[in-house]
Amino acid sequence: MTDYMLWNKEIVERKSENAMVSFEDRGYQFGDGVYEVIRIYDGKLHVLDWHLDRLFYSMEQLAIRAPFSRDDIKQLLKQLIEKNQFTIDGKVYLQVTRGMQPRDHIYMEELDAIFYATIDRFDQPVDMWEKGVKVTLQDDIRWLRCDIKSLNLLGNVLARTKAQRQGYYEPLFHRDGIIRECGASNFYMVKDGIIHTHPTNQYILGGITRKKVLMLAGELGIPVKEREIAVEELENADECFLTATPMEVVPIIQIDEKPVHGNVGAITKTLQQYYRKRVYDDLE
Ligand code: PDD
Repeated sequence: MTDYMLWNKEIVERKSENAMVSFEDRGYQFGDGVYEVIRIYDGKLHVLDWHLDRLFYSMEQLAIRAPFSRDDIKQLLKQLIEKNQFTIDGKVYLQVTRGMQPRDHIYMEELDAIFYATIDRFDQPVDMWEKGVKVTLQDDIRWLRCDIKSLNLLGNVLARTKAQRQGYYEPLFHRDGIIRECGASNFYMVKDGIIHTHPTNQYILGGITRKKVLMLAGELGIPVKEREIAVEELENADECFLTATPMEVVPIIQIDEKPVHGNVGAITKTLQQYYRKRVYDDLE
């Protein structure tokens, strides 16, 4: 664990008594807040602007008053890294809650949002990259604004816990017969040399890794179709993989009882390696 954390514009020692949350914090009572998980490579922040675009979008969609400007939070996160003398690979957890008020579903307009950030070491999940993971189909019971990176993650919490207790890495959510995404990652199917993935809308989180992977696929000349994939199509998938900020690109080798045809597929491998190489382009 690192020694310092960010607590409302101040860098304080990472002890619970230095960052107390009121029982009337709306994040605590309603999950009324948003968050980001950002990778750090060699002590530097990866695609920070894309994460901040999404964070400000999430706050705007929920009418949370941003407690910082883009420049403020950039500087604060960099100071936090410096103060911790953090020069290795890691990740940032940054969350913003709407603020404090006596419990009421109806939020007051003028609340001061509350935020904190921590950074922690994160080692490359090499085993996962090489061997791939298993996923299990589950009904998507989440709300219909999955595009907002909300703290309200009960649907994901229940689904991921159930999946992992059953020996799977992730649930693979489907709704109305359509594959959406995984519990904390985006999903892709490769068929006849084309990458298929759900379009960004209210049914999935617009992943930052997804954005970069689709950009890199373009550079590599691998065609991409953003479209709805029916559950039955998985039967004939050549390859499947998932992406998320901490894990990057991870092959999916089994869906429930059924092995994925290509196991760790060639296109997945190519993207995984290219992504690895290119994380060092977008650091600040
Ligand atoms: N989760 N979909 C969901 C539901 C997610 O929670 C995440 C990330 C993603 C991938 O997004 P990105 O590429 O921006 O990390 C997709 C983070 C890591 C978490 O909740 O810890």
